Amino acid sequence: MLVKIGVKDLQAGMYVVDTGLSWLEHPYLFNQEGEVRSQGMARDILAAGYTEVFIDDERGDFARTRGGSGGMPQESLAEMLARGPAVRSLPAVPLAEELAVAKAVYEDCLHIAHDLLREVEAGGRVDIDASQHMVDDVISSAVRNADALLALCKLRRHDAYTFSHGVNVSVLAVAFGTSLGLGAVGLRELGLAGLFHDLGKTGIPDAILNKPGRLSAREFEQVKAHPRLGRELLDGQGLAESVLRGVAEHHEKWGGNGYPQGLAGEAVHPWGRIIGVADVFDALTSRRVYKEGVLPTRALGVLYSMRERDYPPGLVERFIKFMGPYPVGSFVRLTGGEHAFVRGSNPARPLFPELLVAFDAAMRPTPWRVVPAVSDVKGPSAIVQALDPAEYGIDPLQYLGEAGR
Ligand SMILES: [Fe+2]
Repeated sequence: MLVKIGVKDLQAGMYVVDTGLSWLEHPYLFNQEGEVRSQGMARDILAAGYTEVFIDDERGDFARTRGGSGGMPQESLAEMLARGPAVRSLPAVPLAEELAVAKAVYEDCLHIAHDLLREVEAGGRVDIDASQHMVDDVISSAVRNADALLALCKLRRHDAYTFSHGVNVSVLAVAFGTSLGLGAVGLRELGLAGLFHDLGKTGIPDAILNKPGRLSAREFEQVKAHPRLGRELLDGQGLAESVLRGVAEHHEKWGGNGYPQGLAGEAVHPWGRIIGVADVFDALTSRRVYKEGVLPTRALGVLYSMRERDYPPGLVERFIKFMGPYPVGSFVRLTGGEHAFVRGSNPARPLFPELLVAFDAAMRPTPWRVVPAVSDVKGPSAIVQALDPAEYGIDPLQYLGEAGR
């Protein structure tokens, strides 16, 4: 499994993993995949200014000689998912019904986020009213059936990251917030903080944002200022202090290793912590010009490896339980060889969601068959692997919207 460690603890033989997290947002993260050949190489990485790294404790010489996890027993994601109570209740409205509404809400969100960014780039003010209406629509949809908007975030088009990322983080934070039992005021604050969280990036020169390779120390300082710049852009417009703190503290970390203030533990505002988790999840799963998105199962593995180091105890676990390893819209292969879409989450048993079987083992279309989300017995319909539907030229939304009508 993946483990996030300090570069000072990196040893020869450990296997470094490229998580796909952007160096721009995670300037201290060493991301070059492969085995660390010598202790000198580990020292060079530290000397270059990196402080953190993800390793795979089941790969590399170090794992072979130490038996993985440095001999320490670690709870796997699957074990964690099987433990404890469910974190969300069954949706009030069926997915196919809410998808029709959520598509219009999501399109509106993209327009509002697009206009917001353009306005701020042109030196104008943030349209708070439009943003609040947007967030209220997101909250209403998430309360009816969170899976609809979450599926749209996951399957959105790939050419509009800068403003779709704000929308997605807003949706993820609101939907997750409903599972944390937050009321309308808290959800609204979270939704706004999510939408605005990277607004401060408009103050970073394009030459830095688009620079290939490593930034200079001075350029890093400019990138690290974006949460503070975002807060300054929003100040004095009647927004609650907690919205501003959610924006200003979305890169702060539980262990104090974040930026720009280096806050630690409870000093990081709860909205900052939640936006931070949603930000990393969306950044990982997004398809970008320069990288493929990673599948949600792997993104959740990366987040899991950051628990308690970057986020408070229990928060990442709750998020993973909320999303489930196979979020609605996932395309999966079953033990019997058939291929299916995940059509409904299963809060009680996240590993066994409701499925819509649509292809046989050779990817030939078959008559649709629904596998209800009740079984916890490994049978012909258990999931063995999550797949990228884009690789097969398939749009899950088409199937999820039509089936069940
Ligand atoms: Fe950011």
